Amino acid sequence: MIWLIGTKGMLGAEAARLFEAQGMQYLGTDREVDITHGERLTAFAQAQGPISWIVNCAAYTAVDRAEDEPLICGRINRDGAANIARTAAEIGAKLIHISTDYVFNGKGSRPYREDDEPCPLGVYGRTKREGEAAILESHEAAYIIRTSWLYGAYGKNFVTTMLRLMEERDRLSVVHDQRGSPTWAYDLAQLMLRLITAPAAGRTIPYGIYHFSNEGNISWFDFAVEIYREAQERGLVTRPCILNPCSSAEFPAKVTRPGYSVLDKSKIKAALGIDIPDWKRSLHSFLPHQRA
Ligand SMILES: NC(=O)c1ccc[n+]([C@@H]2O[C@H](COP(=O)([O-])OP(=O)(O)OC[C@H]3O[C@@H](n4cnc5c(N)ncnc54)[C@H](OP(=O)(O)O)[C@@H]3O)[C@@H](O)[C@H]2O)c1
Repeated sequence: MIWLIGTKGMLGAEAARLFEAQGMQYLGTDREVDITHGERLTAFAQAQGPISWIVNCAAYTAVDRAEDEPLICGRINRDGAANIARTAAEIGAKLIHISTDYVFNGKGSRPYREDDEPCPLGVYGRTKREGEAAILESHEAAYIIRTSWLYGAYGKNFVTTMLRLMEERDRLSVVHDQRGSPTWAYDLAQLMLRLITAPAAGRTIPYGIYHFSNEGNISWFDFAVEIYREAQERGLVTRPCILNPCSSAEFPAKVTRPGYSVLDKSKIKAALGIDIPDWKRSLHSFLPHQRA
């Protein structure tokens, strides 16, 4: 059985839907099984039937709020990840844990590789990095997947926010000086499924850190332009909205976002023998699921 943690979040909900559609036997939990309580977590796991995989999509993801709540953020992203890893080790389960491009400072000029030195810019990125380190220390059978710019059907995210604002406003300013790769939550859920089914397909995937996002890299402004174009075509946005490129300095936030957040995905592609959909193709597949 698979234990999927964080099923009420954007990625967790997507994974739950996919596992269900594939007829996979899984147990889903969210806040009701608090990952910050290590002993209770292990006791919960031991009370279930045999669990062969734990997939952790739970996290503290409010990047700016984290600056005011560093302890809470650390308890979830660092201690929670460590608790899950210890539980997985205890019950002999393999672990898939999701991490982030925010472990890097975004000052690079070529796609980040898994062995590039992390250098997070804020509390969220730092605690996610600490979570990675805690997992690597306490459980050998773990896959840590760093992803970026996640969007999907089940939570507030850039695409759904843009669709709403484009319908409400005549003009929108969107930053052009942050570059990265969008990731459709469905594609990442598929990736997790591939990892889980790899042994049955005769593939041995070495444990460790991997990078995954959709292919291609763009600015938030470029992303908004494409969302607008597609949404207009599909009748999801019914009125004109002018998009203006602006700089990050015009949108002051508590935490500086990485300027260059592109992840090198060669390792995961080679390990699984997969091609990854381009960001435009995935956006194109996602939008029909949005209601006008
Ligand atoms: N969103 C992005 O753009 C992005 C980018 C890169 C990486 N990631 C990573 O991708 C993963 C999934 O992100 P997401 O956007 O799907 O996150 P999300 O929507 O915020 O979902 C996280 C879920 O975890 C739950 N949770 C929080 N604390 C918990 C606890 N102590 N015990 C049990 N559950 C708890 C949350 O509940 P509450 O809602 O009640 O807090 C929420 O249901 C995370 O690891 C995140 O760091 C996300």
